[in-house]
Amino acid sequence: MTPHDLPEDLRLATRSPAQAAQDAIGRGGMDQIRICGGRPLRGEIRISGAKNAALPLMAASLLTDETLTLTGVPHLADITTLANLLAQHGVGFSMNGEGAVSDGREIALTAAIIDNTTAPYDLVRKMRASALVLGPLVARCGEARVSLPGGCAIGTRPLDLHIKGLQQLGAEVGLDNGYIEARAPKGLTGAEIAFPFVSVGATENLMMAACLAKGETRLVNAAREPEVADLAKCLIAMGADISGTGTDTIVVRGADRLHGAHHHIVADRIETGTYAMAVGVAGGNVELVGASLELIGVVADTLRAAGLELEATDRGFRVACEPGQLTGIDVMTEPYPGFPTDLQAQMMALVSVANGASMITETIFENRFMHVPELARMGANINLHGASAMIRGVPQLTGAPVMATDLRASVSLVLAGLAASGETTVGRVYHLDRGYERLEEKLSACGAEVERIKAAR
Ligand code: UD1
Repeated sequence: MTPHDLPEDLRLATRSPAQAAQDAIGRGGMDQIRICGGRPLRGEIRISGAKNAALPLMAASLLTDETLTLTGVPHLADITTLANLLAQHGVGFSMNGEGAVSDGREIALTAAIIDNTTAPYDLVRKMRASALVLGPLVARCGEARVSLPGGCAIGTRPLDLHIKGLQQLGAEVGLDNGYIEARAPKGLTGAEIAFPFVSVGATENLMMAACLAKGETRLVNAAREPEVADLAKCLIAMGADISGTGTDTIVVRGADRLHGAHHHIVADRIETGTYAMAVGVAGGNVELVGASLELIGVVADTLRAAGLELEATDRGFRVACEPGQLTGIDVMTEPYPGFPTDLQAQMMALVSVANGASMITETIFENRFMHVPELARMGANINLHGASAMIRGVPQLTGAPVMATDLRASVSLVLAGLAASGETTVGRVYHLDRGYERLEEKLSACGAEVERIKAAR
């Protein structure tokens, strides 16, 4: 299957070279989001399926020649990017459920024949998670050629743990012309892989590869993120033998083959935390439908300590906050079950308008404070000291034109806009479209004044 056989909703647009700069953008183009702040949020927001679960789950389709059906797949540019990559490996797609914001889509992926094991730079550079095809391709086909993703706005983010882990499973891995070339013509063999630090992507890549390796693989110091557990749940439904997910040691006993399965994607805990924080900054009372307090764990504790009220409901949980109720709090990002780095920027927007001072420390990524100068343009009082930011809460932010720099940074600016007086415009919305499904619709339905201004096409 070529990318052009993809269902239209999953196809990347064909663009002229002059438009190529925009092609990381899915459908967002150079759109802007305009926010008029100062309105409380009331109503309900339905939480989508998790992007960070959907991506490895889609890559897992490469492990079997039968159909893997995923439900609750969010409408996001990153999903489109991976669908295009998988299609050029030969994966066939069919899709249902275009409709409501609430339902996500059902996508059936069939890798009956993999006729191309190269993941080209053009697609991989758009999204680092493309590297998740490496483990499944080597395990199923005995070879893969995957471009290194190249520079990334939030740090160097190498793939050394992925490469070393595959070598420990018996693959020969080299670098050639910016590509990782991995070969295991006689298949992979189980091994003990002890990670020097926690990596979500390396855990997922090697867990998938180990499913088709001979014998037992132990992943020590493995990531415990719920998205890793969701991937394991799906792999088990496909016939894999995996134990220990949710702990720091995952044990995989390899099988000769996996089969098809149906899997519903876990709710997006980062989207959940983002909307809970939106209620914190804007004030109001919103039910997050499909969300779960257990899934956001330490984030729920942190938000309660910062003054938000969170209460479980039959459909998810309710979050409420009155004006003046927010208190500053110290936060340090850590691997799960710690506070997620993917909510660090949003938390900074929240405490920018809290009473008192807060210290936010980023331990996962270097250079993940690019939202700081933009928040400062809106009147936030933030001082950076290495990996920590000291934020002194101000009573009110002021609207301003600001620029998104990465996915989570961009949504933090939308949150700041909800708290600001006057108008905020957030540029480079394509970052947002990588990870937030219909953000402006979800917020407007709760009374926010948020709209997308379409760039001229
Ligand atoms: C995933 C998430 C991302 C989240 C991150 C941390 C997906 C699709 N993306 O990214 O949203 O911010 O987890 O929770 O799930 N590292 C290395 N060498 C490696 C691999 C990682 O040095 O081989 C470093 C990274 O540069 C980073 C840290 O390890 O500093 C953690 O990265 P990792 O957990 O691998 O993040 P991703 O899987 O890329």
